[in-house]
Amino acid sequence: MKVLNCEQPERKSVIAVSFLVAFLFLLILRLFHEVDLPLVLSCLGQSSAKWLPFSSTHRRPLRTHYGYTHVKTQEPLHLDCDLCAIVSNSGQMAGQKVGPEIDRSSCIWRMNNAPTKGYEEDVGRKTMIRVVSHTSVPLLLKNPDYFFKETNSTIYVIWGPFRNMRKDGNGIVYNMLRKAADIYPGAQIYVTTEKRMSYCDGVFKKETGKDRVQSGTYLSTGWFTLILAMDACYGIHVYGMINDTYCKSEDFRKVPYHYYEPGRDECDEYILHENAPYGGHRFITEKKVFAKWAKKHKIIFTHPNWTVS
Ligand SMILES: *[C@@H]1O[C@H](CO)[C@@H](O)[C@H](O)[C@H]1NC(C)=O
Ligand SMILES: *[C@@H]1O[C@H](CO)[C@@H](O)[C@H](O)[C@H]1NC(C)=O
Ligand SMILES: *[C@@H]1O[C@H](CO)[C@@H](O)[C@H](O)[C@H]1NC(C)=O
Repeated sequence: MKVLNCEQPERKSVIAVSFLVAFLFLLILRLFHEVDLPLVLSCLGQSSAKWLPFSSTHRRPLRTHYGYTHVKTQEPLHLDCDLCAIVSNSGQMAGQKVGPEIDRSSCIWRMNNAPTKGYEEDVGRKTMIRVVSHTSVPLLLKNPDYFFKETNSTIYVIWGPFRNMRKDGNGIVYNMLRKAADIYPGAQIYVTTEKRMSYCDGVFKKETGKDRVQSGTYLSTGWFTLILAMDACYGIHVYGMINDTYCKSEDFRKVPYHYYEPGRDECDEYILHENAPYGGHRFITEKKVFAKWAKKHKIIFTHPNWTVS
């Protein structure tokens, strides 16, 4: 080898060997990465694939989200999207006619039991991910053939407090999901881990300075959706969400809270929740935080449009 003929063979070969060792180390990490060894990955973080050798840009491995586990197999969620469309349940969606645009996105996200049937022109027809609150699970179970059979390509991500989601037989919502997964083996049902739930609380604390529990609030499904989407998507278009000042603005539109059912006016509902001393969602506070995220991530809020910067 050329190295050995040089003036300082020992030093050079030490360097060469070090490089070789480092390279082999990276290669081994890379191989572990291929088989998804959770320990190695969680140490390296999710961006590891970018600097490990032989990382193919064509065959990008699916991102693994360890905070979400399959209700039956306990496997973590794999999800990696380019442009995501997150469709709000708001009455703002009625008459927007953005269905075809939404359906052209690489991943389409919906929340809770928001329907597409009969609303395709406004909200689109495809659903790739549905983020669902523990309180909305009974609504899915009212129509299980539709949610878990007809639309079995949809990934369900359920969030809820530990008392309802515990896996020891005492979590009532977890039990319902387990049963649904047994009846519908093709259903892709994932639950948010306890650790991930605390992480989402931690994000609220970090962004608002307030402890979620002490301030008497529940996080919204939108909150959990955006946190996962920021990890899974390269870009996000959010349709139909109003901003934090919308209800005080001059061009505000009076619409129902949900596009698919009559009911209380959206702004009335927002204000009621924002001021509830206990048990409300801080929808307006959350929107202020979303606007902040939109400055750091590729997030566009549209219909109605937000101006962020
Ligand atoms: C999903 O449903 C279709 C028809 O409803 C069925 O043919 C297919 O096998 C199901 N997929 C899985 C993974 O169960
Ligand atoms: C809102 O934003 C979309 C896309 O960014 C744009 O096409 C549309 O013209 C905007 N609408 C208004 C009312 O500004
Ligand atoms: C919030 O929404 C209102 C009403 O659509 C709009 O007038 C205002 O410019 C928006 N503010 C921001 C910061 O996007």
